[in-house]
Amino acid sequence: MEILNFDKENDYIKKVSEINKNRNLKYYILTMGCMLNENDSEKLCGMIEKMGYTKVSEAQKADLIVFNTCCVRENAEDKLFGNLGELKTYKRETGAIIALGGCMMQEKHIQEKLKVSYPYFDIIFGTHTLNKFPEDLFTILSKKEKVTDVIDIDGDIYEGIPIKRESSVKASVTIMYGCNNFCSYCIVPYVRGRERSRKHEDILKEITKLAKDGYKEITLLGQNVNSYDGGSGYKFSNLLNDVSKIEGIERIRFISPHPKDFTGDVIDAIKQNPKICKILHLPLQSGSSNILNKMNRKYTKNDYLTLAKKIKEKIPEVVFSTDIIVGFPGETEEDFNETLDVVNQIKFEQVFMFIYSRRVGTPADKMENQVPEEIKHERFNRLKALVESQVPENNKKYLGTTQKVLVEGESKNNKEMLTRKNRNK
Ligand code: 5AD
Ligand code: SF4
Repeated sequence: MEILNFDKENDYIKKVSEINKNRNLKYYILTMGCMLNENDSEKLCGMIEKMGYTKVSEAQKADLIVFNTCCVRENAEDKLFGNLGELKTYKRETGAIIALGGCMMQEKHIQEKLKVSYPYFDIIFGTHTLNKFPEDLFTILSKKEKVTDVIDIDGDIYEGIPIKRESSVKASVTIMYGCNNFCSYCIVPYVRGRERSRKHEDILKEITKLAKDGYKEITLLGQNVNSYDGGSGYKFSNLLNDVSKIEGIERIRFISPHPKDFTGDVIDAIKQNPKICKILHLPLQSGSSNILNKMNRKYTKNDYLTLAKKIKEKIPEVVFSTDIIVGFPGETEEDFNETLDVVNQIKFEQVFMFIYSRRVGTPADKMENQVPEEIKHERFNRLKALVESQVPENNKKYLGTTQKVLVEGESKNNKEMLTRKNRNK
């Protein structure tokens, strides 16, 4: 893996903006999936705006349409194909450029399906070739040739990609790419490659610049942030300590840590640095040790509960959020009850609940005893009801307290209201 500069692509940005000069072009981008993908989209927006396009919120008003896709669950696929179907006539009538990128494009069967059923796309780019978007756009604009730019090998890390951020107060900063864990249900290691960490100097430089630009809150992103390896023994806890020292940054969050790698030095760094938000995302996935083993999570129910207890003892104000999958192959009623038991014990502040979705190429897809859809849905609803029943009790601890909040902007539902988060949300 090499850390490379974006200079060559800057030449393509210049070439494309020359072609687009005085054309008042518009672009639309749809981002699916996680915060890492959102961060990738901010980079795409940064590059695209430098090439002379202005953002619009409707695909059918754009000259360039970009879908930055996710493939973690099946519903993202349905969403992409639905959107593409709706664009067929618009594409024929206007000749708008359609670019498809991100995780789903790394999958061979998706590429094949697109070529057969939706052949009117112009560019396919993958997770390792995002940085080449200006070059790919130049090819389609200058040669009118369709581009498929997907590579399987782990990409290099590119520093210096322009970025157009959604917010002016909070920013996400990717600290590492890829994942080595191969949880048996998960497609991510196949589409995002092995773990590669950015140099800590580059990360700290980026955050120092963000602080100077007025950003107050930073979220450090990676599939498994606590295996961050900044080289020469520089670990995630070092990064947390160093980011905490940056003047102007008031809040630090990070997602996602893996429970198996949550070491004492990271707990100490969270305790020692008041800027680090005291809500920790600790993905549980299942409360059954039997299912956790089949998921290849490398911890048991007891390990998870012990870790949560250890963190809580050291930092009493900590609350937890989590991810839970229901209906993993072979999950019995007893296994599911173990999950409910953990939820009952921890009283998570927030639970992201997912119905298990079969992913082509993952070990879990080949497992016998796939759980029938109706049982998955029924368990999902029971879990949701339990989580919702805990909300009033969880919120009680804030009654009568004064909370410092970071105002993020106007509320989406009511323009008269501002939206905000406290340190624990
Ligand atoms: N089915 C359902 N949920 C999944 N996740 C990952 N893969 C799958 C899958 N195949 C969930 C996990 C992960 C979150 C980002 O998505 O809970 O933590
Ligand atoms: Fe997927 Fe597991 Fe890696 Fe998370 S840690 S990205 S769930 S393989």
